[in-house]
Amino acid sequence: MGIQFDANTRTFTLQTARTTYQMRVDERGRLLHLYYGRRIGQGDLGALYPPADHGFSPDYYPCRLRRGVSPDVLPQEYTGCNVGDFRLSCLVVRDADGAAGADFFYQSHEIAPGKYTLEGLPCAHDEDSEAETLSIRMRDPVTGLTLELLYGVFAHQDVVTRAVRLHNDGSAPLRLEKAASLCLDLPFGEWDLVHFHGRHAMERRMERAPLPHAVTTVSSTRGASSHHHNPFVILCDHEATEDHGLCYGVMPVYSGSHRTDVEVDQNGLTRVVTGLHDERFSWLLEPGESFTAPEVLLCCSAGGLGDLSRHYHTFLRRNICRSPFRYARRPVLINNWEATYFTFTTDTICRIAEKAASLGVEMMVLDDGWFGKRDDDNSGLGDWFVNEKKLPGGLRPLIERVNALGMKFGLWVEPEMVSEDSDLYRAHPDWALTLPGRDPAMGRNQLVLDMSRPEVVDYLTDRLGTLLAENHIEYIKWDMNRNMSDVYSRALPPERQGEAGHRYMLGVYRLLDRLTSRFPDVLFEGCAGGGGRFDAGMLCYFPQIWCSDNTDAIERLVIQHGTSFGYPVSAMGAHVSACPNHQTGRTVPLWTRAVVAMSGTFGYELDLGRLTQEECDQVRAQIETFKRYYDVIQNGAYYRLSDPARQPRYVAWQTVTGTESLVSVVLTHPEGNARPLHFCLQGLEEDALYQLDELHVYGIAVTPESGHAAADACGAVYSGSALLYAGLTLPPMIGDAPSLQLHLTRLP
Ligand code: GLA
Repeated sequence: MGIQFDANTRTFTLQTARTTYQMRVDERGRLLHLYYGRRIGQGDLGALYPPADHGFSPDYYPCRLRRGVSPDVLPQEYTGCNVGDFRLSCLVVRDADGAAGADFFYQSHEIAPGKYTLEGLPCAHDEDSEAETLSIRMRDPVTGLTLELLYGVFAHQDVVTRAVRLHNDGSAPLRLEKAASLCLDLPFGEWDLVHFHGRHAMERRMERAPLPHAVTTVSSTRGASSHHHNPFVILCDHEATEDHGLCYGVMPVYSGSHRTDVEVDQNGLTRVVTGLHDERFSWLLEPGESFTAPEVLLCCSAGGLGDLSRHYHTFLRRNICRSPFRYARRPVLINNWEATYFTFTTDTICRIAEKAASLGVEMMVLDDGWFGKRDDDNSGLGDWFVNEKKLPGGLRPLIERVNALGMKFGLWVEPEMVSEDSDLYRAHPDWALTLPGRDPAMGRNQLVLDMSRPEVVDYLTDRLGTLLAENHIEYIKWDMNRNMSDVYSRALPPERQGEAGHRYMLGVYRLLDRLTSRFPDVLFEGCAGGGGRFDAGMLCYFPQIWCSDNTDAIERLVIQHGTSFGYPVSAMGAHVSACPNHQTGRTVPLWTRAVVAMSGTFGYELDLGRLTQEECDQVRAQIETFKRYYDVIQNGAYYRLSDPARQPRYVAWQTVTGTESLVSVVLTHPEGNARPLHFCLQGLEEDALYQLDELHVYGIAVTPESGHAAADACGAVYSGSALLYAGLTLPPMIGDAPSLQLHLTRLP
């Protein structure tokens, strides 16, 4: 396992437990990609690509007579620019003459223990001396541009990370107009593309389609990874299912504008190019300067989509999240947003907290509206000083009262934004991103701060740092409620304006790095109007991210299902909210809302004072249930047992540890005279015995029959193989969105 270099054939082989990644320096010094897939042993993979002369695919100059050696046909590890490969390119670079061109030749390489880091960018870290780094230096002799290809090999996790550094070793300035993080050529096979699209309050809906002979793009130009197109994509073979088939995951560790293009070329080769979005991007590289393209996490599994997801879940928690909270049970919280919106005082919040504390809630989170002049969403952003009209005496008296209830206190902020009607904007109008001479497009009537300016990052470091240092705040919800338009920085010279978007992200990362390092005991939750920045970049700083502003449990099933393809349960912020739901108007049983929210970080976001005694008892029981099942929900391996496209009646999922398993089911579409639901479980040990020790059916119209069936089923012992292959038939369920939780304990 690990990284091998065969000096005779100049072949690099990256071996992980179940995958192999191979590339070779050819006779001319160019780096060819040979293979990425299931683990293989020795063999000359160069023979997979015999020379063949293809019309209209030009040859390298030295091969012009021999022909058949074309950059347009051979699989490439990272493309040059404008030198004969007409497929998607990784790079566009212009020299001082305006000529766009680069052709890279191998110079040297280094294999080192540990994982490389990237200056200013989030990236995976080595947890336990498990990673190795390969860095390959290539050079373009004409411009002097050096390309450093970085590979982090996490052998036990089957993850290969990739990143790129470009360094101007020439004597004249260069302009990058595109600088992707990777090219991944899959020379053989036909693939489906799985991606996660959506919109505000409807994020990460999984879509799967065969790749056409064309270029397919998944991208965002919004300055955020976006609600609309999550940067994570999967390529899988046409037959791949949850538990079999070859799948490749491509997950950028980046939170700004991104782009993944997938091309199926004339010969059927599939090329993936992933990285920063190149629209309005350019980067001036003066001699001696470097540019780093963000990291991408590659994972390959022959065990289907479920296995690929579980690899990412483990890796993100272990090697991306840096927070001390990544494995900790997060406090069950109550958030006042949907209970009060902007209208509250210290007393209102304390009343909510008192009720919540009496039901077992552990943290009170004060959302938007506590600062500046903020009675609606038209003003106040930027003024991170307490609004004493609402909170007399500031935060301290409120926090003391909350703490006296035995609860922690958390606070909402939206640091990257500014309202025109704010003291910050009046003092520094040039700190907002706006185009000269134009009225800016307004999102939620607010502007975006120019985070590319160091003084803005310093100001926010200081203001938020003071807020956290002076108050006993144990949780921060970090929001971002509009996308970035009118991108123009008043601090950058004209020739560097194309850098503003990426420099914004570097500024955000710098701020997050400073605050999360200085306050390691504060639990940070990311948010961007719900899940508008749900990505691996943010997960480096935030162990959890608010999944969606849509808190309707039935819609959340789809959102959490889509999210689960790349991201772990421990990262998904999820709350029980009021019914009729504020986004959809739908009413779902309180228990079903809890079953869904429990498959996330779990909390409440409603006025608990309006609940009946019976509902309060349910809330108390839900919190106890969450705590009882916590380990298996958050630390268990996650299995999707249903596919909304194929099983429109219900959504089911299962988590499994070595000692227990929890199955959760929501019946979304009851039918008349229905057959009971039946499915096979996953992830259990064939030869082990499991006792079904708890089975709860929740719903408004749950019949006595289902209650009896559930009671009868409890106590039964099954072999793992029976549950895996013969499956389970569930008690009958009817009514609006009933749900079920079924717990199994592995017998010693
Ligand atoms: C965003 C968040 C919500 C809430 C509001 C406050 O929409 O996603 O949860 O915090 O902002 O304005």
